[in-house]
Amino acid sequence: MGEETNDNAGSASANTNIDEKNGESADGGVKFYTLEDIRVHNMSNDTWLIIHNKIYDITSFLEEHPGGEEVLLEQAGSDATESFEDVGHSTDAREMLQQYYIGELHMDDRKEDNAKEEEAKTSGESSSSWAMWLIPTVAAAALGVLYRYFMSEHKSS
Ligand code: HEM
Repeated sequence: MGEETNDNAGSASANTNIDEKNGESADGGVKFYTLEDIRVHNMSNDTWLIIHNKIYDITSFLEEHPGGEEVLLEQAGSDATESFEDVGHSTDAREMLQQYYIGELHMDDRKEDNAKEEEAKTSGESSSSWAMWLIPTVAAAALGVLYRYFMSEHKSS
């Protein structure tokens, strides 16, 4: 349901990844939130955003945002990565993010994009390495056949 996983340490969770679900990773400190946890923080007095799988509580930043609070509120409780990147925020803006960081998006809720990108990257790499040796091999074989053909033509004439 909508409750925050870091607050429900005592309640039974169907998820086997209990350490993460309870918000604490084994190496300490990092809190993980699910999309459902984040979604409820969508008000002007309680505003969370997801940017690159990191969670930011930007409630105190709303009024300071040079781009206005409206745009932030539109994204409140959801993933603002695309809009944040579309604007082309400066390095300063990216550094500002750090002070509002409160945790990480739960692994189960991370966009498939990331996985797909990885997959595309690796499959792209493997297909290009295939092409890298397949094309020259085929070309060399074709040249060999042509050479033999012309040589035999030459001999017979
Ligand atoms: C917590 C996250 C964010 C921070 C820390 C932040 C910070 C800033 C900063 C410092 C600027 C001034 C220009 C710059 O340095 O790049 C800016 C401008 C702007 N931001 Fe953000 N921003 C955040 C999220 C967003 C999001 C999610 C959107 C869009 C939905 C957005 C839309 C804009 C726009 C449109 C401007 C341009 C304002 C102008 O040039 O008049 N920002 N932001």
